[in-house]
Amino acid sequence: MTTKKTGLNPAAVLSMVGQGYYSERTAGARNVINTALEMVSQALAETPATETLRLADYGAADGGTSRGMWSNLLSGLRAAGDHREVEMIYTDLASNDFSTLFRMMQGFAGDPAEAYQKNLDHVYVHGCGTGFHQQLMASNSLNLGFSATAMHYVSEKPCELTSHVHMVGALAEEQQQFRDQAAKDWERILLARAAELIPGGRFICFNFGIDENGHFLGHTGGIHMFDQFDRHWKALRDQGTISDEEYTRATFTQHYRTMDEFLAPFSHPDSAVSKAGLRVRSSHSVMTPCPYRTAFDQSNGAMSAAEYAKTLIPTMRSWSETVFTTALDQRAPDEAMAIVDAFYQAYEDDVAANPDGHAMDYVHLVLDIEKAR
Ligand SMILES: C[S@@+](CC[C@H](N)C(=O)[O-])C[C@H]1O[C@@H](n2cnc3c(N)ncnc32)[C@H](O)[C@@H]1O
Repeated sequence: MTTKKTGLNPAAVLSMVGQGYYSERTAGARNVINTALEMVSQALAETPATETLRLADYGAADGGTSRGMWSNLLSGLRAAGDHREVEMIYTDLASNDFSTLFRMMQGFAGDPAEAYQKNLDHVYVHGCGTGFHQQLMASNSLNLGFSATAMHYVSEKPCELTSHVHMVGALAEEQQQFRDQAAKDWERILLARAAELIPGGRFICFNFGIDENGHFLGHTGGIHMFDQFDRHWKALRDQGTISDEEYTRATFTQHYRTMDEFLAPFSHPDSAVSKAGLRVRSSHSVMTPCPYRTAFDQSNGAMSAAEYAKTLIPTMRSWSETVFTTALDQRAPDEAMAIVDAFYQAYEDDVAANPDGHAMDYVHLVLDIEKAR
């Protein structure tokens, strides 16, 4: 078997669909982040008091999914008498739609009640368009970093997958290449955060991964979402709509780590990450049910299967579409989009015909990491 290196710029294939499409259709990701409020508040309360408070949200997309959490956290601080100046740094790739993010925080888009930059005094919002595998801010300056649903993106595709679109279904040798890339990336992420955090600072991440039951996003006992992506993409190849190369180029630049993979850099006192002062305070996995499935089930028949399919597929599309459009980037944009539309339509038709087992439950591996004081 041969695997080939890709020359693609990873930023081109990772972006969420812009102009608010991502956060408007991603209620599940917002639900996950809302559950983090208590953990983040508690961790922040345990960090050393500093004159100003610097916070970061790594891989924030348009900021819409975490805005409620940050708004509640900062309002809570103010209500408790903490009036420190706050610097909030949103990070994502250079290709991200930061314009929507800034408009949301200033109250020009989304729910104005959550526009905390406008609603609270002395909160300064910044954007950083450099990837989180690098150090992004001055050393020893960050009180608390947070990241949700972002660090499964690897910094580069180690190979194109030849028999599946995602590493979860890939051949063992290709899967290993993704595992190796993800291990290097995770160490780089941790060393960069170790440099940025103040002594006693915290880094809390809710990362996609594979839990102790072997479950991951869209695969929690029902129909396997990534197998469906692969099946419909393969069907386009087999009927001659896309070429073999276009099939192969639709490779998600992602790796779902297990908890062992997340904890490996901390396992030895002489590891680079341990020597940089990081330790894990707690780790656990959490499954968050697909909100669109829940709404369908709770409708007791009021929502038809076709209506359910029309809510489920857009949430999948909001983060996966660029993988398929990029695979077709040698074609005219209209032609590529028509193929991608047909691809998601085929999935939607399946769900509408029989919704049993279709859902996109979220599976996160959660780590609370502290830098030594
Ligand atoms: C699925 S979205 C998650 C957005 C938000 N944190 C949430 O939980 O809803 C993943 C985000 O990670 C960003 N991302 C991927 N690789 C990145 C990198 N190396 N550095 C910074 N952001 C990255 C993507 O551009 C995207 O906006």
